[in-house]
Amino acid sequence: MLLPILTILLSAAAQIEARAFARNAVVIERGEASNTTYDYIIAGGGLAGLTLADRLTENLAVTVLVVEAGPFDQGEDAILVPGKYNPSAYFWFNSISPPQPGLLSQAFFVIMGKVVGGGSAINAMFMHRPAAEEMSSWETLGAKGWGFNDLLPYYKKSETFTPPDPTFAEQHNISYAASNHGSNGPIYTSYAAYDYPGGGNWWTAAMNLGQKKAVDINGGAAVGLFYFFRALNPFTGTRSYSKTGHYDRVIATRPNYHLLPSTLVSKVTFNGTRATGVEIMDPTTLVKTNAYAKKEVIVSAGGVHTPQILQLSGIGPKALLESLNIPVVVDLPGVGANFQDQPSLAIGYNFDNNLIPNGGSLADNATYLAEQQAIYDSTKKGALTMIATTGNQGLALSLQNATTNYQSIIAHAKAQNPADIYASGTHPDVLRGYAAQRAQQYAQLASKGSPVGSVFWNTGPETSIYMLKPLSRGTCNINSNDITASPVVDFRTLSDDTDLEFILALFNKNREIMQQPSIQILGPTETTPANGETDVEMLKLALRGAIQPSTAHQCCTTPMMKRKYGGVVDRKMLVYGTKGLSVVGVSMFPLTIGSAPSATLYAAAEKAADIIMKRNHT
Ligand SMILES: Cc1cc2nc3c(=O)[nH]c(=O)nc-3n(C[C@H](O)[C@H](O)[C@H](O)COP(=O)(O)OP(=O)(O)OC[C@H]3O[C@@H](n4cnc5c(N)ncnc54)[C@H](O)[C@@H]3O)c2cc1C
Ligand SMILES: *[C@@H]1O[C@H](CO)[C@@H](O)[C@H](O)[C@H]1NC(C)=O
Ligand SMILES: *[C@@H]1O[C@H](CO)[C@@H](O)[C@H](O)[C@H]1NC(C)=O
Ligand SMILES: *[C@@H]1O[C@H](CO)[C@@H](O)[C@H](O)[C@H]1NC(C)=O
Ligand SMILES: *[C@@H]1O[C@H](CO)[C@@H](O)[C@H](O)[C@H]1NC(C)=O
Ligand SMILES: *[C@@H]1O[C@H](CO)[C@@H](O)[C@H](O)[C@H]1NC(C)=O
Repeated sequence: MLLPILTILLSAAAQIEARAFARNAVVIERGEASNTTYDYIIAGGGLAGLTLADRLTENLAVTVLVVEAGPFDQGEDAILVPGKYNPSAYFWFNSISPPQPGLLSQAFFVIMGKVVGGGSAINAMFMHRPAAEEMSSWETLGAKGWGFNDLLPYYKKSETFTPPDPTFAEQHNISYAASNHGSNGPIYTSYAAYDYPGGGNWWTAAMNLGQKKAVDINGGAAVGLFYFFRALNPFTGTRSYSKTGHYDRVIATRPNYHLLPSTLVSKVTFNGTRATGVEIMDPTTLVKTNAYAKKEVIVSAGGVHTPQILQLSGIGPKALLESLNIPVVVDLPGVGANFQDQPSLAIGYNFDNNLIPNGGSLADNATYLAEQQAIYDSTKKGALTMIATTGNQGLALSLQNATTNYQSIIAHAKAQNPADIYASGTHPDVLRGYAAQRAQQYAQLASKGSPVGSVFWNTGPETSIYMLKPLSRGTCNINSNDITASPVVDFRTLSDDTDLEFILALFNKNREIMQQPSIQILGPTETTPANGETDVEMLKLALRGAIQPSTAHQCCTTPMMKRKYGGVVDRKMLVYGTKGLSVVGVSMFPLTIGSAPSATLYAAAEKAADIIMKRNHT
């Protein structure tokens, strides 16, 4: 899939005759951005990029260019109608990992969105927030000012929350505090007003084991039983995402907001260490031109492509850049290190007497699908408001809640040498930061308040386990100086085998739940991947063959940490050693959070917009 390397050098040198900014616009042609000077240029029009662009252009005197690699979606059901979810038209197709030794040497496709809206256009719409204590760990690592209470006003600013019908909420154990939510923001959030009957059986089973209902899973105490919270517009029954909230909503009144789709940012340009703009490339002709930024270039290209763009621009580990003949602007060893994702595991079941309908019915019962389609068409409600194959009930578990064996698992983690887990030759700053991260993670593992993972039964054929807080670290580095070549995503899943202990604990907790009377009456038989296997070593082998390294939550590759820890951006998102260059998006997280990233990313991008506007007086 790699395009032939073709280098077309266009002079970015001295006397550029910058063109006047055309105040018409919106979606622009490449030629129009070429040689044009903006106040801000945002590389990547995904979740964070469009959120920023919207806020920065509220002041009509400020000009912004967003360059996005992917196209606009076509408003198709596969994107907008949750029950018709099919993201595959908008993936990046050029990225396969190297074989993963921890996963029986399998290689994996790297799932990422390439479309206006980025991951928010094709994700599974879950909008859960982390535990407050996890955000305190971020602060300790260098992200001062990014604690849960600092972000709370921005979580609220980002959303229009629609409360559930009170009777439905009571019957379905939906528990939340309205004070944690906003009523006026661009992204619609809500609870699906439809539920499968088996959800209650599962909830009862978990309660039977002593698990408790979370008072508000999104209020900073993120463990316990909960009902899924989604980026669902309850009035239209459709996905709410950065394109609808931060582009469609405002674009008619923002002649100062330019978006250039289907175009690559191939690098950031510099005068010395000051970012002056970006080089942009037509992916078909490979012709490159330049656009200029008076105030800042902001890289928002996601967890994988943000470090790629920085490295191609001369910001990254010196030895790597020199090996590819890339002139070094700043030697920053942390760019592309600290890669994290959230591995997952699907467990299959057959049932003798499952309740109908269930999370498998849309797929296996055409009558039911037709019924639900009619309900959806006329009322925008029903099963099609949920991503197909998902149920509504989840359980987020602290390690202590997952297993009585937690002390020995923590002892096993502490006995590892961090330097043995990273690839050999890792820079000492990165290892120092990793040791500091592990200290935070040990404290979280010992706490009852931090989730280590979560378990969901979809009420039909599948249970999913999410390993939210791995100790393993991967890398994401370029191996070519061609922007059209994918960076190498080496997940290094289970490089710390403590992570397998976490997954095993979650797996066993799930088995306990499925053995409770309220589930046993449905007649479950565990099928894949372990077929009821109980021998621990055999089970571990089966899990290594079945664990997916990713839930497409790739992150943390340009972390907001102290520079001596291998950090890449400071607490104001500025790239160390540069001027006029910042990073906003999932790559700036220092550590994964015990939930999915989107809700926190919307909040973080809102906060970042305030910081950027303030420092530039715009
Ligand atoms: C299939 C899938 C399911 C997911 N499910 C969930 C979920 O249920 N809940 C949740 O919270 N999170 C989920 N996520 C993750 C979440 O969507 C991402 O973490 C989030 O979108 C990251 O935001 P971002 O702005 O940092 O990057 P992105 O949203 O990925 O945006 C980055 C953008 O940059 C563009 N880009 C990359 N390189 C270049 C370049 N060189 N030039 C120009 N543009 C470029 C990309 O095309 C992309 O549009 C899911 C993601 C996927 C893919
Ligand atoms: C680069 O920066 C220097 C110092 O700020 C300035 O004098 C010079 O004109 C700049 N060069 C270009 C090409 O903008
Ligand atoms: C941009 O400027 C360069 C150098 O000044 C010039 O060669 C090129 O033709 C210009 N491109 C466009 C599209 O105006
Ligand atoms: C709600 O919780 C009660 C126990 O508190 C349980 O009996 C019931 O099945 C649950 N229902 C759902 C839909 O979760
Ligand atoms: C299929 O769905 C219809 C309509 O909801 C229902 O009556 C029927 O029992 C279902 N059949 C099966 C086999 O699930
Ligand atoms: C799980 O953790 C919560 C919160 O600390 C606690 O109240 C509950 O009793 C725990 N449940 C189990 C089964 O350990």
